[in-house]
Amino acid sequence: MKLLVTGGAGFIGSNFIRHILTTHPDWRVVNFDKLTYAGNLENLRDVESSDGYSFVQGDIADREAVAQLFSDLKPQAVVNFAAESHVDRSILDASAFIETNIKGTQVLLEAAREYAVERFVQISTDEVYGTLGEEGAFTEHSPLVPNNPYAASKAAADLVCRSYWKAYGVPLVITRSSNNYGPYQFPEKLLPVMIRNALNGKELPVYGEGKQVRDWLYVEDNCRALDLVLLKGRTGEVYNIGGDCERRNIEIVNLICDILAARVDEPRSFKELITFIKDPRGAAHDFRYALDCSKLQSELDWKPSVDLEEGLERTVDWYLGNQQWVESVITGEYQEYYQKVYGGR
Ligand code: NAD
Ligand code: TYD
Repeated sequence: MKLLVTGGAGFIGSNFIRHILTTHPDWRVVNFDKLTYAGNLENLRDVESSDGYSFVQGDIADREAVAQLFSDLKPQAVVNFAAESHVDRSILDASAFIETNIKGTQVLLEAAREYAVERFVQISTDEVYGTLGEEGAFTEHSPLVPNNPYAASKAAADLVCRSYWKAYGVPLVITRSSNNYGPYQFPEKLLPVMIRNALNGKELPVYGEGKQVRDWLYVEDNCRALDLVLLKGRTGEVYNIGGDCERRNIEIVNLICDILAARVDEPRSFKELITFIKDPRGAAHDFRYALDCSKLQSELDWKPSVDLEEGLERTVDWYLGNQQWVESVITGEYQEYYQKVYGGR
């Protein structure tokens, strides 16, 4: 198998490449990544010299670069992780989200069509469905009602994908997963922000009252699901991938504080650092996500295997052991971003 992974230097992509190199050691994997602020080759340092792995730097929205890549590699399958992925950044400036997430996906689809790839997996998100109240769960047939520019750009990409399946028969599958967590997540998302700030004795900024609900999925479970979908998912279909693990944000932050307190030598109350801040997302902040994953479960026999307690412990331990990684991926740009979202806290 010659597999092209785009965005493989990011959080989920790097975990997926590690998973594939372990479970399919005979595959050839090419990682095509622009290396934006969120992409880091450090994420793949332990596997970069593996047989069958190579890296090409490039932009999925750059037609010429993508044409050259497909002409050189002639991939049999593509898994498209490449994206601008953070809601708060999309609210500050949506431009890069439109360029990468929509145009970039179309550029890849066009190349996939020209080179007749056998499989195209589009990595999408539960955020395309918009928000839920206290009850219910999204199925693959729920309407797409995105509420922020990130979600809108991912929903648009899903529709472009659908059209390339219908109009040109590009053999694609779309996955929509819930909130992933685990090693190598860039410190702008909830868990790594909280862990880093706690270790630095800084405020733990909870948006609004922290009552929003997310469904948490350990990244390795997602990688297992994606591997199955890549090999066995039905062409033209959408698969939800969720952790069956809904928690309010404040519960997650409290759990992280508890785990950290059990890990450090001197007893410290990290919970004292929790600070409720004015919600930077305002009306664009989705209240609740929940996914009905019965399709994936019944067709591909998948269910999550890492429960929240174990997953959070593994995650906290990884960040404790890799504080240098955290500081190495943070640049001056991150400080500016932090200033804008958290208002100088
Ligand atoms: P991430 O921000 O950690 O990584 C994105 C990667 O894409 C980076 O390596 C970046 O350099 C690369 N990239 C960005 N623009 C590019 C471009 N124009 N060309 C080539 N590479 C480019 O994101 P992530 O959290 O790993 O998410 C990966 C995918 O999964 C995204 O498509 C995202 O929408 C989706 N997703 C993420 C989550 C989550 O909880 N993190 C949940 C559901 C879906
Ligand atoms: P995030 O990790 O950005 O993922 P998403 O927006 O894709 O769900 O945020 C998860 C939840 O945590 C979301 O409801 C916003 C909230 N949040 C905070 O309260 N404080 C923070 O510093 C961050 C980054 C997120």
